[in-house]
Amino acid sequence: MDLIVTTIQSPSQAVEELALQIASVLQIPFVPRERFSLIALRNNYQIDNIVVVTKNGPVVHTLGGEYFFHLNMAELRIKNIINGKHDHMVAAMMLTAGMSVLDCTLGLATDAVVASFVVGQTGKVVGLESSPIIAFIANYGLQNFTHDNLDVTEALRRIQVQRTHCHDYLINLPANSFDIVFFDPMFRQPIHSSSNLKPLRYLANNQPIAESALTEACRVAKKRVVIKETNHNNEFERLGVTTICGGKYSSIQYGVIKVDN
Ligand SMILES: C[S@@+](CC[C@H](N)C(=O)[O-])C[C@H]1O[C@@H](n2cnc3c(N)ncnc32)[C@H](O)[C@@H]1O
Repeated sequence: MDLIVTTIQSPSQAVEELALQIASVLQIPFVPRERFSLIALRNNYQIDNIVVVTKNGPVVHTLGGEYFFHLNMAELRIKNIINGKHDHMVAAMMLTAGMSVLDCTLGLATDAVVASFVVGQTGKVVGLESSPIIAFIANYGLQNFTHDNLDVTEALRRIQVQRTHCHDYLINLPANSFDIVFFDPMFRQPIHSSSNLKPLRYLANNQPIAESALTEACRVAKKRVVIKETNHNNEFERLGVTTICGGKYSSIQYGVIKVDN
């Protein structure tokens, strides 16, 4: 992906060090910001996406807006769970404390954070992300973002991020390694109400789930493979998923494959 990394103007030493670390980890050019505007940098380097390191962490400026770590809907969903309300993903996974979840499409880690909160200290969540910059932002946020509720902060810290294509990771796992294997690929048709995820589209792996990855997921899962999709397409049909749950009026559905390995 075409990407450069710079800092805010007049950066602190810590900000500059993080920018240099990102350049080294992602193998992308570091450009000293000096007095350049982002428009000037875009023009000078003929590049669309620029990582700007700020005192609050990295922000990727894409043509679709700014991408940075935030809890997104995880905060509200966790609050609802604490108050005993229903969460469609948790229900589709039949998720309880102590379970293990392999999230094959980590993204902003919203679903992984909810899962990590539910499985608690005795559980485990591993998140896979093939886009290097998205994996970096997720890992940075999960390790540095602090919430008022210590249980939420701890849920973030426990998530292990792996920068990899899910198929490459799945094929190297023994059978029955995780209770749940989860997929939330990029939707073919974006949902307009989740416009805060628009910048993700410019950085993400936009490929659909490969049938071979799903086969591996069914081998790796001890209990269930769960796939999140919109009801605007025929992805469940293509993947042969017939058990579908979710809200009656929700545009998002969860396909469930119960495995009995
Ligand atoms: C819709 S987002 C996931 C959002 C996530 N569930 C959340 O709650 O924030 C899909 C993400 O999966 C990543 N992705 C797509 N295909 C992948 C693959 N084969 N392996 C690993 N990551 C993949 C994309 O780059 C993108 O960041």
